[in-house]
Amino acid sequence: MKAIFDSHAHYDDEAFDSDRESLLSSMEEKGVGRIVNVGASLSTTKQTLELTQKYPFVYGAAGVHPDETGELNEENFRWLEWAAGQEKMVAVGEIGLDYYWDNTPREVQKQWFRRQLELAWKLDKPVIIHSREAAKDTLDIIREEGGRDHVMVIHCFSYGVELAREYLDMGHYLGIGGVLTFKNAKKLKEVADFAPLDRILLETDCPYLAPVPFRGKRNDSTKLSHVAEELAAVKGVDADRVLEVTWENACRFYRI
Ligand code: NI
Repeated sequence: MKAIFDSHAHYDDEAFDSDRESLLSSMEEKGVGRIVNVGASLSTTKQTLELTQKYPFVYGAAGVHPDETGELNEENFRWLEWAAGQEKMVAVGEIGLDYYWDNTPREVQKQWFRRQLELAWKLDKPVIIHSREAAKDTLDIIREEGGRDHVMVIHCFSYGVELAREYLDMGHYLGIGGVLTFKNAKKLKEVADFAPLDRILLETDCPYLAPVPFRGKRNDSTKLSHVAEELAAVKGVDADRVLEVTWENACRFYRI
């Protein structure tokens, strides 16, 4: 089997506290070749940086998730910029808008979404977008900030074909994970069918969103083989081909 590239993971999460070291140390022998660990706050960005320094196959992204943007100020934003510029930190993210939880006022989310996009442009890094129940505002801000001229992935893509087309037309990528294997994934399967294979990134978002037959359990990068099989069925190719192309996609996207 071809090696797996997990383009979006959270191994800093406390769900991995009991076995993080042994789990990550076993990844390569289990067929996982590369992982991008994604920051979602200042503290998880710091943990991400530490993981990239410890494991040769782990790369990182620096960013503050919309739910956490209440913690940002000018001083710690300068630290975030420093972190994003460190070696093996290959992207800015995950950043965006989340109107599902609505934990942070929308105006605060929007302000720091824009600031983090500008940071990515300044550092010339690709962007990992988190957008939940905020389709229009996300697209508006990306357009206003000049997102057409930069590369980004819409992580855990949860919208329909029409919005997928908008992002693909701008040159962006779609992140697809365990949800593709769920029984009720009709809309995502349509998107996966519509999107060219060379614009899809495989992602776990672990510890969340484990694919069937592990749904509801703790997810990890080895389980992406189940997503690859499902995507292969949608695309009418074999799973090795999916792993090969998505590996190339992730290397191109993150410039590794
Ligand atoms: Ni995530």
